[in-house]
Amino acid sequence: MKIVQNIQQAVDAANELKKNGATLALVPTMGNLHDGHLALVREAARHADHVAVSIFVNPLQFNNQNDLKTYPRTLDADLDKLEQAGVDLVFTPLPEIMYPDGMNEHTFVFVPGLSDMLEGALRPGHFKGVTTVVTKLFNIFRPDCAMFGQKDFQQVAVLKKMVKDMAMQIKLVEVPIVRNEKGLALSSRNGLLSAEEKEKAPLIYKQMMRIRDSIVSGRRDFDALIKESRAEIDSNEGFRTDSIDIVDAESLRPVTGLTARAAVLMAVYLGTTRLIDSVSFDL
Ligand code: PAJ
Repeated sequence: MKIVQNIQQAVDAANELKKNGATLALVPTMGNLHDGHLALVREAARHADHVAVSIFVNPLQFNNQNDLKTYPRTLDADLDKLEQAGVDLVFTPLPEIMYPDGMNEHTFVFVPGLSDMLEGALRPGHFKGVTTVVTKLFNIFRPDCAMFGQKDFQQVAVLKKMVKDMAMQIKLVEVPIVRNEKGLALSSRNGLLSAEEKEKAPLIYKQMMRIRDSIVSGRRDFDALIKESRAEIDSNEGFRTDSIDIVDAESLRPVTGLTARAAVLMAVYLGTTRLIDSVSFDL
């Protein structure tokens, strides 16, 4: 497994892997890797001859400095996991490599509309940071395909639109959410939870499923469903619901009579940790 830190090394290593028409899959991550990320790596190996992974805690997509500061960084353990998973190439740049003139001077890529709603409204600038860094990674690796988890439901929608709008010749592959045995979606931020909080966290999944099941069995009073779940979650100590949305899974806009697939999106604070989760289903 080759590990590179700067852009030219990554470009050269990616070109080397793509020699003689071999295909390359890219898995962008921010590290602190868990089985969710490794599911993306496995999917990548199914889609291409070679797999590259980037590990970069992208400061441009953090709207909260404390979140950036406390984001878990475990590079050595991450590299061990990737080596075991058979990854060919890992790119671990520092912020000054990705943003040599500073973040404010860097060209950006922005997807209007989708970036400003839902999670984007609560985290201003977040999706602009994601689309900018992912474009840069795409340009460095020029992969045939790239893997993204449905855990970040809106992120996938924003990136799909970016790829389509900009005619990027890269296939985006969506990978289902990996959860623990109690339903909690695996997340790097779970490591910030206390043992007690971790025990309680699957309540988010439970309430998300309750909403899904209610809709599937015919309920359409979305506002009431959301209100009930908010009350249920917030009545537990340590929980504070940030947002619950029921949307059209394609447009992320309110469900209409034409909606074929819906999604429930949740963002909930447990203590000081903000957890997100989602589920999509046919109507
Ligand atoms: P990060 O949070 O590290 O996630 C990297 C990828 O792993 C994302 O596509 C995410 O959706 C996926 N992932 C995380 N947890 C998962 C789970 N439990 N099941 C399935 N997939 C999961 O998302 C980012 O980083 C960044 O925004 C990034 C795309 C790397 C741009 O900086």
